[in-house]
Amino acid sequence: MHLLIPAAGSGRRMGSQRNKLLLSLLGKPLLSWTLAAAEASRQISWIGIMGQKEDFPDFQAILADLSLTKPVELIQGGATRQESVYNGLRALPTEADRVLIHDGARCLATPDLFDRSAEALLTCQGLIVAIPVKDTIKVVDAAKIVQETPDRSNLWAAQTPQGFEVKLLKKCHEEGREKGWEVTDDAALFEKCGLPVQIVEGEETNLKVTTPVDLSVAEFILRQRS
Ligand code: C5P
Repeated sequence: MHLLIPAAGSGRRMGSQRNKLLLSLLGKPLLSWTLAAAEASRQISWIGIMGQKEDFPDFQAILADLSLTKPVELIQGGATRQESVYNGLRALPTEADRVLIHDGARCLATPDLFDRSAEALLTCQGLIVAIPVKDTIKVVDAAKIVQETPDRSNLWAAQTPQGFEVKLLKKCHEEGREKGWEVTDDAALFEKCGLPVQIVEGEETNLKVTTPVDLSVAEFILRQRS
C-alpha cells in the first residue's frame, strides 16, 4: 500500500516560526514518530512526504536517522493541504491503485491503525478513520449565537489515515480545482462528487498536534506507551 504524508504546513497555530513537524517530541522531531509508525506497518510499502523545499534538508536528516527500509520520496508541497495532496497524488508511482493519506501532524497513529485501514481499503472505494464525538456539538453563526444542536449519535470526528482508489481521488481533486472547492480533508472531495466514504474505527489517542497543549498531551501518551 502506498502512503502519502502531507507535511508542508507551518507552525502558526503552534506559535512556532518553523514547521511544527520539526518540533521536538520526547527528543525526536514530531515527523519521525509518524514515519516510525508507517515503517512498522506491515501493509505500507512506499512513503511519499509532501513538504516545503526549505524543510527538505531537515526531512533528509530525519530519514537518515531512522534508516527506513521502505522507499521514501520527498514531494513539493502546496500552499494548502489540498494542494499538497494533489501534488502527492501526481507523484505516486504508476502502479499505485490505492493510497492512504495520513497527516504528518498525527504522530501517535499506531502501525495497527495503518494496517486496519489498508486492509479495509481493499473492500471499498474510499474510507476515513474516525471516532464518535464525545462532546455535544453546536452549529454557531457569525455572531456566536447557537443555531442548531445536531444529534450526537450521528456525529463522528474525522481523523487520518484516509484511503481511496487513486484514479477516483485524482478525478475528485481535478473537479475540486475546476469548481474552486476548498476542503480540509480528502473525503470531503469524495463526498462532493457523490462517492461513498466508509468509516473505519479510529483511535482516541490519534490526535492531531496543532497547539502547544497537544504537544504536551502527545508527550504524555508516548511516555505511557514506552
Ligand atoms: O494545519 P493542519 O495541522 O490542519 O494540517 C494538517 C496536515 O496537513 C499537517 O500534517 C500539515 O503539515 C499538512 N499541510 C500540508 N500542506 C499545507 C498545509 C498543511 O501538507 N500547505
